[in-house]
Amino acid sequence: MVTFRAPGGTRDVLPPESARWERLIALFASTVERAGYGLVLSPMFEEVGVFERVGEGTDVVRKEMYDFDDKGGRRIALRPEGTASVVRAYVQHRPTPPFKAWYAAPNFRYERPQAGRFRQHHQVGLEALGTDDADLDTEVVALAWSVCAQLGLTQVTLLLNSLGDGACRPAYLDPLRAFLGRQSLCDEHAERWEENPLRVLDCKRDACRAATADAPRLIDNLCEPCSQHFARVRAGLDALGVAYSLQPRLVRGLDYYTRTTFELAAGSLDSAQNAVGGGGRYDKLAEALGGPPTPGIGFGMGIERLLLACDAEGVLPTPSASVDVWVLDTTGGSSALTFTHELRDAGIAADRSFDGRSMKSQFKAADRSGARVAAIVGPQEAADATVTLRDLRTGEQATVKRTEVLDHVQELLS
Ligand code: HAM
Repeated sequence: MVTFRAPGGTRDVLPPESARWERLIALFASTVERAGYGLVLSPMFEEVGVFERVGEGTDVVRKEMYDFDDKGGRRIALRPEGTASVVRAYVQHRPTPPFKAWYAAPNFRYERPQAGRFRQHHQVGLEALGTDDADLDTEVVALAWSVCAQLGLTQVTLLLNSLGDGACRPAYLDPLRAFLGRQSLCDEHAERWEENPLRVLDCKRDACRAATADAPRLIDNLCEPCSQHFARVRAGLDALGVAYSLQPRLVRGLDYYTRTTFELAAGSLDSAQNAVGGGGRYDKLAEALGGPPTPGIGFGMGIERLLLACDAEGVLPTPSASVDVWVLDTTGGSSALTFTHELRDAGIAADRSFDGRSMKSQFKAADRSGARVAAIVGPQEAADATVTLRDLRTGEQATVKRTEVLDHVQELLS
């Protein structure tokens, strides 16, 4: 018989592990909603052109996109990242700027699956469109940092850089090209360095690392407005007490970035997959997607990666997902059905066994469930209109009137 498994590079997240996802997403949501960001939901697929604007020179677009023709002959791609979709939605609906949006959503990249690298991964992230005020950069970077701190991660480093703008970056590429032309680079970049010389700076292979150690730095060649903007971002982070490490070689894997860029690197993870989050400014993306000139900045954090970092640091334990009350009806009557619903309606988490199990089996299920209280209806209780409540931790029990049982349960749980 054929058995099916989740496709390579994808994972099923089952309870109780999924309860950590809920906690992480809730923590992210409350953090950014306190800063005025609202949830945005956008389609999981778009016309391929939306993502091509992200940068046709990037692996994400060139090699990893899940694109296909739909039945109507449209070229479609599954979303490889969240920013392009949010900016497309902004351009389409033109909400009043500043537009501050957050999301928690799956992304699809045809990568070689390995630890911490998936073909379907999930990001929590945010985007803020409509102003290039450096204070917004500081706010966005500080929010990403705050999420890590609230998770309890202490081995995460904030890497910060500025990629300049359309004025200073092209001017910098000439001296960089001249420099790289004299170096011996890794096999991939020996062939492709001229196409996108900046990417060589970010290459993790030893040959490129060594060759670019003394390369001219973009942050030393920023134009005056970019330099002032970056100085304000840094001063803002200092004022908020957010520690960062200046990383002049940080380039990022997507082409839309301008000015501030940053990454969160987890020291507890293998260096190939240690980025738990990253982001930056993209002041030209809205125009590239057919909108009015609209600066923007944001970041995305990989949920799977954050959880791996939490595992490595022993924080954010899996919550013991259990109900509070287990209802046992050993008479075969309808008490389990009705009383369980009554408890739930009163806001108490309650569950029960099915299939007319024996009393012994129902008690086993109650113990296994982790519930605090067992509510037992046996023949005597059914006859007397009572319920026996047993504290499953202490073993103490008392029989109470059916009409007063909710109060007693609340008391036991409090
Ligand atoms: P990114 O750096 O490509 O940026 O992805 C953000 C984060 O998603 C990474 O730091 C990593 O934690 C996680 N991630 C990416 N690819 C994978 C994968 N294959 N498996 C597991 N986790 C992965 C972006 O996507 C930008 N949209 C971020 C941004 C928002 N920039 C501005 N606004």
